[in-house]
Amino acid sequence: MELKKKIGRTILQRTIKDKEANLYPVWLMRQAGRYMPEYMAIKKASKGFLDMALTPDKAAEITMQPIKEFDMDAAIIFSDILVIPYAMGQELDYVPGPKLGKFDKKFFEADMETFIEKCKPVYEAITKVRNTLCHSKSLIGFAGAPWTLYRYMSGNVLPGHIDEFDGAWMMQRLTDYIVEHLSQQIKAGCDTVQLFDSWASDLGEDHIIPYCYEPTAQIVERLKALHPDVGIIVFPRLIGEEINNFSKYVDADCISLSDDMKTDWILKRMGHQCLQGGIPPEALLAENKEAILRATVPMIRQMKDSAYVVNLAHGINKETPVENVRFFIEIVKRNRENITRET
Ligand code: CP3
Repeated sequence: MELKKKIGRTILQRTIKDKEANLYPVWLMRQAGRYMPEYMAIKKASKGFLDMALTPDKAAEITMQPIKEFDMDAAIIFSDILVIPYAMGQELDYVPGPKLGKFDKKFFEADMETFIEKCKPVYEAITKVRNTLCHSKSLIGFAGAPWTLYRYMSGNVLPGHIDEFDGAWMMQRLTDYIVEHLSQQIKAGCDTVQLFDSWASDLGEDHIIPYCYEPTAQIVERLKALHPDVGIIVFPRLIGEEINNFSKYVDADCISLSDDMKTDWILKRMGHQCLQGGIPPEALLAENKEAILRATVPMIRQMKDSAYVVNLAHGINKETPVENVRFFIEIVKRNRENITRET
């Protein structure tokens, strides 16, 4: 911590925590993964996803691959949101998409020390990355939000089919495991965390408060009390205009945007807050550079003078050409230099 203070803050921290505008830190959701040949080489030599994610040397190497290749401003630890159900005792396999074992309420009573022990390889990988990653770059930890985790664990049970009492208890227990997992990632070396609520869009008006807003607000509040210097990004995916209510309910440092809302609508209502993302991942599938420029430069220009983290609206597509990723990062950097010169 002392060392970090002396060296200064990363541009991601300055954007998220200090709300400094026009720095435009850039990273990509799922930046480590199948679109990179280096990832595929490790995958080929491994015994499956969990072997990659839970072997600290492999997870650390995979985390560094996109940084070495494209020089993003932040690394995100290579892991998966389903490590939490796995550590709570549910079987997990990837064939190749994730397959969780039979649902059982006993998972929600898993002993916390045992849970932490099962997640240890993730924390070890984080410390390894922090020791190699340049200090001007952030290291991001993450977790799935309670609703999204529950949805996977239960095999897609819909909100209307959950007993109200059970639902409240399971969300509370998931909240406790998530706070612990994020807190351990921070202690291991992450300076920023992101909470993925990939399935928040399932929740209608009867359920969005108890299953999304409330638990997310509690996670943010507890993490802030434990780690006041850490930046917290929240991502309630595809909830449309609800994002504005969400942002009033949840005291996060940064809100990650999907691509279901017009940027000018968002800026008008939420432009005073730190925002991230919103660029369609499909933009990086383009066959010509013009199309990538068209999806990126206007967004950067529109976000001028607000605290904005450049990112996609969702994870990068596995068919994305490596050269497009390189070009995307380059144009972000070139444009942010131009904007700095203008201001
Ligand atoms: O961003 C990063 O680079 C960090 C790594 C990361 C992964 N998963 C690696 C991964 C992160 C942040 C996640 C989050 C995650 N995992 C989410 C939330 C974001 C989202 O996409 O909505 C969800 C819902 C999952 C669950 C999950 N894991 C699914 C649905 C899948 C299969 C779908 C797919 O994309 O193939 C995974 C597997 C997974 N997680 C892969 C990677 C790189 C693919 C593994 C492989 O086949 O090599």
